[in-house]
Amino acid sequence: MAKETIVKVENLKKYYSVRPQEIFSKVGQEIIKAVDDVSFEIRKGEILGLVGESGCGKTTLGKLLLKLIEPDEGRVYYQEKNFLSLPAKKLRRMRRELQIIFQDPYKSLNPRMRIAEIVSEPLIVHHLWKNKERERVKELLKLVGLPAGSMDNFPHQFSGGERQRINIARALATNPEFVICDEAVSSLDVSISAQILNLLRELQRKFSLTYLFISHDLSVVGYFCDRVMVMEKGKIVEVEKTEKLYQNPSHSYTRTLFSSIPKIKKNLPLEKGHGQEN
Ligand SMILES: Nc1ncnc2c1ncn2[C@@H]1O[C@H](COP(=O)(O)OP(=O)(O)OP(=O)(O)O)[C@@H](O)[C@H]1O
Ligand SMILES: [Mg+2]
Repeated sequence: MAKETIVKVENLKKYYSVRPQEIFSKVGQEIIKAVDDVSFEIRKGEILGLVGESGCGKTTLGKLLLKLIEPDEGRVYYQEKNFLSLPAKKLRRMRRELQIIFQDPYKSLNPRMRIAEIVSEPLIVHHLWKNKERERVKELLKLVGLPAGSMDNFPHQFSGGERQRINIARALATNPEFVICDEAVSSLDVSISAQILNLLRELQRKFSLTYLFISHDLSVVGYFCDRVMVMEKGKIVEVEKTEKLYQNPSHSYTRTLFSSIPKIKKNLPLEKGHGQEN
């Protein structure tokens, strides 16, 4: 494993067998190859984009990387250990380092829990900041630009953008190294989305985080990511530095995918990539 590699994925596979919807269908079962023999590496400190059509397997791949679902085959090396086959105790310890932020800031926060409880949940699970959880929550809220005084409020008292900040605070609670952002800004309008992206980038620099940034928005990915992986029907068809991929996609599927964006938006109020050398 190369020194700068943080995550190495080898031959990951997840198939689903589903019954077709039609009652009179002659086919008994259909196999969906959600993730089909995927291998790639993520480098420390980079923002790696993952793009592809809806249903191509992006979320399934993200969940497999964190063992939120079990793969059929394959290995995921993290800190040079196969994360997927670690014994329970070590797996639990390593989970602190790996976090995920989901798309929907409404569904992902329990409406009956106060913000302090939501953000401190990972601390309780991992026995961190014992008896000082509220202090840590205060610090985390400050980091994501929310007033500490809001920690006893409920999710419905926040806007969509603020809820996503709460999700980010929760994801950072355990000081992770690697964060998967699954459509983390997709449900937000453009200006709020840009603010959240700027926050994600600021946090990435501050804590040397590594992101896998899953998105269907090719414009956002073009601005935010250092490298981009293109997924088609469960397979990775191309991985390339963002600029190179956008200027000169080599795979025919990437060209088709990119032809659907009329023109890359040039006016997003975002800084360009942080210049990581590849
Ligand atoms: N639990 C499941 N049971 C059966 N099929 C599933 C399950 N989870 C996902 N799939 C199927 O696997 C494929 C990949 O789904 P996935 O959610 O990973 O796609 P995606 O790229 O994240 O899509 P989107 O862009 O819409 O979020 C889809 O065909 C989906 O229907
Ligand atoms: Mg998805």
